[in-house]
Amino acid sequence: MRIAVGSDHAGFELKEAVAAHVRDAGHEVVDCGTYSADRVDYPDFGAAVGRSVAGGDTEGGICVCGTGIGIAMAANKIAGIRAGVVWDATSARLTREHNDANVICIGERLVGPQVALDAVDAWLASTFDGGRHVGRVAKLDALGGERV
Ligand code: RB5
Repeated sequence: MRIAVGSDHAGFELKEAVAAHVRDAGHEVVDCGTYSADRVDYPDFGAAVGRSVAGGDTEGGICVCGTGIGIAMAANKIAGIRAGVVWDATSARLTREHNDANVICIGERLVGPQVALDAVDAWLASTFDGGRHVGRVAKLDALGGERV
């Protein structure tokens, strides 16, 4: 698979480890930055990963920030992105099986490196369950840009 990765400074070290791990597993990696531990803003990198996946350049994305939360919020602003915050292999597997997550987001300050890599492996190995989840995911995709 061709996988986009991205992080802010707080997720930089884990993003680098994830990129190496994904490459070692035989996938192609598109690194959307950041490229150093210098302070940056997570919305820029969540959006970059989201655009890469939604635009079809990559088949999935992995984002890292301090908590995984802010960068997920950014990625989810891009139409067609279903980014789930994950914290272990089970949450990573379920967000693919139930939500058909095309992006996963991990918090470097919250999740240990080996647990994070196990989560990445679980997500890469899992597939969407379909069935009762199809209509729910279609409803997710139909949401967006709504002003109230
Ligand atoms: C950066 O300090 C931190 O706020 C960011 O990485 C992330 O955790 C935001 O959700």
